Amino acid sequence: MEQIPVESAERQAFYERIDKQNMTALWTVMGALITPEPKSACVPAAWRFAAIRAAMLEAGKLITAKEAERRVLVLENPGLRGQSKITTSLYAGVQLVMPHEVAPAHRHSQSALRFVLDGRGAYTTVNGERTLMQPGDFIITPYMAWHDHGNDTDEPMFWLDGLDIPLIQFLDASFVERLDEEVQPVGKPEGDSLARYGANLLPVDHKMSSATSPIFNYPYERTREALERLARAGEYDACHGIKMRYCNPVTGDHAMPTMGTFMQSLPRGFRTSRYRCTDASVFVAMEGAGRTHVGDTTLEWGPKDIFVVPSWRPVVHEADSECVLFSFSDRPVQERIGVWREDRGNA
Ligand SMILES: [Fe+2]
Repeated sequence: MEQIPVESAERQAFYERIDKQNMTALWTVMGALITPEPKSACVPAAWRFAAIRAAMLEAGKLITAKEAERRVLVLENPGLRGQSKITTSLYAGVQLVMPHEVAPAHRHSQSALRFVLDGRGAYTTVNGERTLMQPGDFIITPYMAWHDHGNDTDEPMFWLDGLDIPLIQFLDASFVERLDEEVQPVGKPEGDSLARYGANLLPVDHKMSSATSPIFNYPYERTREALERLARAGEYDACHGIKMRYCNPVTGDHAMPTMGTFMQSLPRGFRTSRYRCTDASVFVAMEGAGRTHVGDTTLEWGPKDIFVVPSWRPVVHEADSECVLFSFSDRPVQERIGVWREDRGNA
């Protein structure tokens, strides 16, 4: 049992005296700093895509992508309001690019992932290569990579942005630059990086120059096919169903150094075993419907809905139909510093 020091008037007077000198007695705050297990202000929460879409279309009438620089509605964790955080370490927002709009070129210290929700055929250009965006594609904008987005189609395009903004903010390491041109020059043919790095081959003299994967679009079509083939074998993990990790083909490590990205499938009627881990995770229900129990909270979800699970809270997923769930978290950072932990219960 933890021993809490008894407070006396003499001690209180001492605390007040040292407070004026910017000092605090550790024994008065240690219990809140070094907790027996993770104790987060982040809470379980879910956002329906239909509600996000409606609000975004309203935003589409209020401000242009050019004026906003990025027309995004931030998904704020209800336990962390006003901080632009979906978890303690991560940011998430939904971005809208209307037909024939451009979100102008810039680059920054924060790494970004895009997970395409709705619309087909808008583009993002990253470091001189353009890729068309299709639902379910996972697209990377690495640290300090020039990027602009545009939509030459006739329908609005929505995607989820996941960034390590709170982490970079915590480290006080943020820089941003804007290009004089609205759109960066495209110097490579479409599909170049996938051909070079995404076919179980690497250019013979490839030298690793970044901790981020050189593949910047992981198309859903390929991911879906892999999951489907594995589902046929029927080897489901009790806690995860079939869960795959996006990887950097050069190192085998996570595709991004600060954010781990995953795709999993659950067959109809599957209920996962109780599981918890120290990386709070943001999920997108790419396909299917069901619910996720996070401790005593139940989050219902359907296609394109987004939900968040805090660190170390027991999770059980229930699939009403065949489901495909995308997720991301700060797991690579936790693994790198050796603090990542999981608990598979009795699975
Ligand atoms: Fe950006």
